[in-house]
Amino acid sequence: MSQFTAMTPPDGLQDLVAQLRPRLRNVIGVTIGKGGEGKTTTGVTLSHMLAQEQQNLAQQGHEAKPILYIELDSNGNGRLDLKILGGEFDDDGNGFVGAVTEDKPFTVVRNVKPYLDMTVAGSANSGLAAEISRLASKHVQAPYLMLGMLLAQISHNYAWIIVDFSPGDVSVQRLGLAAVTHLVLPVKNADDAMLGGLQTIANLVAEVRLINPELGIAAIGFLGFKKVAGEATAELDIVRVKIELLLEAAGLEAGLVMQDHIREARALSTVSRNNGLPARELALAANELLLDESGASVPRPRYANGRLVEPDKALDLAEDWTTFTGDVIKRVVSRTAELEGVAA
Ligand SMILES: Nc1ncnc2c1ncn2[C@@H]1O[C@H](COP(=O)(O)OP(=O)(O)OP(=O)(O)O)[C@@H](O)[C@H]1O
Ligand SMILES: [Mg+2]
Repeated sequence: MSQFTAMTPPDGLQDLVAQLRPRLRNVIGVTIGKGGEGKTTTGVTLSHMLAQEQQNLAQQGHEAKPILYIELDSNGNGRLDLKILGGEFDDDGNGFVGAVTEDKPFTVVRNVKPYLDMTVAGSANSGLAAEISRLASKHVQAPYLMLGMLLAQISHNYAWIIVDFSPGDVSVQRLGLAAVTHLVLPVKNADDAMLGGLQTIANLVAEVRLINPELGIAAIGFLGFKKVAGEATAELDIVRVKIELLLEAAGLEAGLVMQDHIREARALSTVSRNNGLPARELALAANELLLDESGASVPRPRYANGRLVEPDKALDLAEDWTTFTGDVIKRVVSRTAELEGVAA
């Protein structure tokens, strides 16, 4: 057992946790204990879909709030997906890391897309793990609450805050897990490494409950698996069964596994990332319906070989993500209602 689980938090920390928790119920983490499973694609697409929903609400005269996307990983791929890599606001993660570890002002890049703000992750994020570990060696659990304390101060400004995790260091995982309330686990690979990652997360969730009693998995979703006539193939059915068995062994519900999935669309996802166009924008652009800031039509996107993206394929992918987002939010809202019920 690690030092983390062996310790009982001092009373002062429990009071802090009790104060933070109600302010963090709109914070969703996207993680699985390994790299390359689609965390960033899921985090960015979810954020963008939710931002569009808020924009629609605003256009209909309803109250609306932006979404905040936060990436923890030093690869900073979210910068590519949201088209800010190397731009004037790209500080390589220095601002975010300074805010978490040194009490510097917490700054976000506003309106990277309508109703979507983001923090920047980059090479500076690789220093986060060492700093958190150093502080934790003196203060045990308190340093893991630093992100949660920051987010609790701004969460009322946002409809949702989405945290895209780093797959590596355990201390950064704990930092993220202490700040979020709901987890979405994306699964893209069918191998044992993916199952190992899932097990890692299940174990970490159990551990971090000491400083985040409301933490739980809201949904496990699949991306990059074939759809034939709109249905999953045997490959995905087998992965599903393996995951359900793993959940059962961990004392978790099989119902966490989402029914619908994001279809295999590697080439489209590459165009999406390389052009900074999340799924819905890619579909609009492929149908010549996306306007830039000056009101001009964005040219139809092309694959690397110059071929134009097919409008129907881009629409199918965006529709998958719309369904995925709807299902995730339904589950998160239902978890939140349960948590509020318990707290009342
Ligand atoms: N629907 C899809 N079908 C096939 N491939 C996809 C799909 N969506 C995303 N991908 C690809 O999966 C790869 C991994 O995605 P992503 O970068 O989102 O994962 P990640 O978990 O954030 O990775 P890392 O741990 O490296 O940050 C990317 O190359 C992306 O283009
Ligand atoms: Mg990533």
